[in-house]
Amino acid sequence: NNNRKPFVAGNWKMNGNKALVSDFLSNLPANNSVDVVICPPSLYLSNFDNAAFALGAQNVSEYASGAHTGETSLAMLSELGCTYVIVGHSERRENHGESNDIVASKVKAVIEAGLTPILCIGEPLEVRESGGVFDYVKAQLDAVANECGKQYISQSVIAYEPIWAIGTGKTASPEQAQEVHAFIRQELSKLDANAAQSVRLLYGGSVNAGNAHELFVQEDIDGGLIGGASLKVQDFTTICQAAS
Ligand code: G3P
Repeated sequence: NNNRKPFVAGNWKMNGNKALVSDFLSNLPANNSVDVVICPPSLYLSNFDNAAFALGAQNVSEYASGAHTGETSLAMLSELGCTYVIVGHSERRENHGESNDIVASKVKAVIEAGLTPILCIGEPLEVRESGGVFDYVKAQLDAVANECGKQYISQSVIAYEPIWAIGTGKTASPEQAQEVHAFIRQELSKLDANAAQSVRLLYGGSVNAGNAHELFVQEDIDGGLIGGASLKVQDFTTICQAAS
């Protein structure tokens, strides 16, 4: 009942090795009805030559080049065939000092380089318990809109990942997730109604082969950003199928 193409991305985080790369290259079936993206550690991007799926990075520098020891540039990611970049994952926000403003600069840099950001937003447990979820995610979105203008909506994929559901085995219920996704789409539509209808909104947080379907059938959930379950080719295949 909408024409958004389903989207499933695997975020390997700091996991995997060359053997896992080979496993995915050999065994992840092509799926034409879903946009499938694998986001391995950047060091392995070049091992994914000729993959039947798209490649994403987990992070990028907001700077173009120069004296930034340990960082990776958009030009480098692009040269390795990467077309997506996860920006503002909660682990970057919480453990690596990425503020809403830094995240916004990164989204802008990714779009200007011609890649697509997978912008992550989502609240910690205390915010959910105090009833502040909508204000919290709205502030995260507003920071990006202020920096990039409303055109970011048509150039991004947005992932809602409630922090309390990440890696905990405690998924948001389909109703909880849908409620926030609908809010996000409504907020975006205040800036650009058409873009808000076509932007893919992903859910992330303990998605697995068993619960993917009930989440993905929700009206405003267009797919998932998958952590732990993206490290097993069979589970990830099932999740991609659940989105189609
Ligand atoms: O970016 C994906 C993520 O944070 C969810 O991780 O392990 O709960 O699926 P996981």
